[in-house]
Amino acid sequence: MDRKNVVIVTGGAMGIGRAIADRFAQDGSAVVIADVSGAAEAAAEISATGAEAVGVFCDISDSDSCKAMVAEALNAFGRIDTLVNNAGLYSTLKLTEFTEITPEEWQRVLNVNVMGQALVTAAVLPSMQAQGGGTIVNMSSGTPFKGVPYLLHYVASKGAINAMTKALAKELGASGIRVNGVAPGFTMSDGVKANPHQIEKLQEISQKARVIARDQLPEDIVGAVAFLASPDAAFMTGQTLVVDGGAYFH
Ligand SMILES: NC(=O)c1ccc[n+]([C@@H]2O[C@H](COP(=O)([O-])OP(=O)(O)OC[C@H]3O[C@@H](n4cnc5c(N)ncnc54)[C@H](O)[C@@H]3O)[C@@H](O)[C@H]2O)c1
Repeated sequence: MDRKNVVIVTGGAMGIGRAIADRFAQDGSAVVIADVSGAAEAAAEISATGAEAVGVFCDISDSDSCKAMVAEALNAFGRIDTLVNNAGLYSTLKLTEFTEITPEEWQRVLNVNVMGQALVTAAVLPSMQAQGGGTIVNMSSGTPFKGVPYLLHYVASKGAINAMTKALAKELGASGIRVNGVAPGFTMSDGVKANPHQIEKLQEISQKARVIARDQLPEDIVGAVAFLASPDAAFMTGQTLVVDGGAYFH
């Protein structure tokens, strides 16, 4: 390819998003780290490896912030080939009985996890449409497939992402934009590692539920994302790949 492939990774400052950003950078793409915190630092670390990266503040639940981020990305690199809708609230959540999740907490999770992906996608869309194509990879989760309890707001948010991936694939197909998803199992991301509550409740039980009975790492997810964004997946759209060591067969 003559021109640079340009990829936006939301929530790319740490965790799964950072691993995805590192992979695209290693593959030669220019990377935009869009995050509410640590974007500039992560981009500086990636740039130090010789890759092209910029870090841009973005709160995905705020439409103006998404538009400003996209404007900065276009200013830096001139186009957007791939959007990885990775940012989401998970690692800071506590397992909570359904009746104990407050309406405010429901709203907070849905605003970021559902509206957030919709707002970033809407902000990126005009440039992809003008280019005549692009790829979008939405970060889902294995939880809506399995019906994981005590995280109902989160499970509902990722179920919505699976549905949006299919409906958007249909809506955007004629523009040459492919929309797919990746659904990881419980992953030892930076955020999860900083939450002893989740480690205690979910690490061992998740390992035991897998055919490949070990911890899932952020690096386990990046290959599926890179594949779905690549021309190798040119005839795939509307699909969500479960990447969880064989805990759930989708
Ligand atoms: N870790 C898991 O077990 C797991 C499993 C399945 C799916 N996921 C999904 O993967 C994604 C990443 O999870 P993780 O565990 O790596 O998270 P993490 O907590 O380690 O990192 C999340 C990143 O997203 C950023 N972020 C949070 N809210 C944001 C907002 N409003 N706007 C922009 N950036 C924001 C954070 O600053 C952080 O850099 C999430 O969508 C999550 O739901 C995680």
